Amino acid sequence: MDQKTAQTLVNKAIEAREKAYAPYSKFKVGAAILTKDGTIFPGCNIENASYGATICAERTAVANMVSSGHTDPVAIAICYNETEFALPCGICRQVLSEFANEKEDLIVLMAKTDGTYQETTLSALLPGAFKLADGQK
Ligand code: THU
Repeated sequence: MDQKTAQTLVNKAIEAREKAYAPYSKFKVGAAILTKDGTIFPGCNIENASYGATICAERTAVANMVSSGHTDPVAIAICYNETEFALPCGICRQVLSEFANEKEDLIVLMAKTDGTYQETTLSALLPGAFKLADGQK
């Protein structure tokens, strides 16, 4: 993807991180999904006193996208701190794979909070993703 679009998406993820609700872990995460028509859907992690009810930033972004009527993501940017290029957890990889286009691999921008990033793809992060057989969807 072009550098300008990628940087815009990364900046949106950094912005979304500011809204994170993480009073328990204090670990703020931001994500932003770009859909085929150019719309960007942000998301942040939302923690809960019942820890297991916590939602990751990536899945918040997916929920934002789907509940707005979109199911065609082309890229996602994720960020959490200034030292590591952010990686999505296993559950989020699986959730993203539900909507990833098999022919045009979903781009994953692993960002730091300073705006630098590395680019990979969902199939590199989750080879052999689980999918129901055709007709069972
Ligand atoms: N978290 C995310 O938002 N995304 C990930 O991919 C990994 C973990 C959140 C969940 C929790 O609020 C905090 O980071 C610490 O695990």
